[in-house]
Amino acid sequence: KQSMPLYGKKVMVTAGPTYEAIDPVRFIGNHSSGKMGFALADELAKLGADVTLIAGPTAQKANSDLKRIDVVSAEEMFNACTSIFPQTDITVMCAAVADYRPKVIAGQKIKKQESELVLALEKTVDILASLGRDKKANQILVGFALETNDEENYAKGKLEKKNLDLVILNSLNDKGAGFKSDTNKITIFNKTLERTVFETKSKTEVAKDICAAILKIIK
Ligand code: C5P
Repeated sequence: KQSMPLYGKKVMVTAGPTYEAIDPVRFIGNHSSGKMGFALADELAKLGADVTLIAGPTAQKANSDLKRIDVVSAEEMFNACTSIFPQTDITVMCAAVADYRPKVIAGQKIKKQESELVLALEKTVDILASLGRDKKANQILVGFALETNDEENYAKGKLEKKNLDLVILNSLNDKGAGFKSDTNKITIFNKTLERTVFETKSKTEVAKDICAAILKIIK
């Protein structure tokens, strides 16, 4: 095991959506399946890393030997991430974290209204940006960007604003990319904004490409 490339490295991966409660029976969520994050966690573990996977609500199962922490909301994910981050060497934030949550969670099921219902939303914490602010020189931080327009510029902006070492762009415009799909099509930007474009591949193969990009930084 000592000869494995990520042996001794502590790695954190987030995966899946978050659910933000509206009342005891309803939530605001998104279409993330968790497949990409679980594939990544599995590949990183196969390379010998000591992986902690922080997973939102998802039906995925990890294949490898890793620690799994299940969370529901953005706030729970934030708490789990911030408690583990200081001890991690490599962090990959793949989760589709909700950007907004209901300002108040109703204690009882909200009754059907006569006409429209207005929900007040407040911003959640940007976990990745917060980790980027705390990041030490020896830590590697990788983020994802899912965009529908002007993808490359938004991705590069995120890399700089959130203090990332790599940003993985996947576009909803590409066939065979995104949420529920078993395949993905990515472009990786590194810190010097060097761009690598990949073909559409299975999420396992995509995870291998992302791992290779991480290994390149370590070497
Ligand atoms: O800014 P945007 O949400 O598009 O950035 C996406 C990246 O930020 C992903 O890596 C995602 O996991 C992370 N993120 C986060 N916390 C949030 C929102 C996004 O960690 N509240």
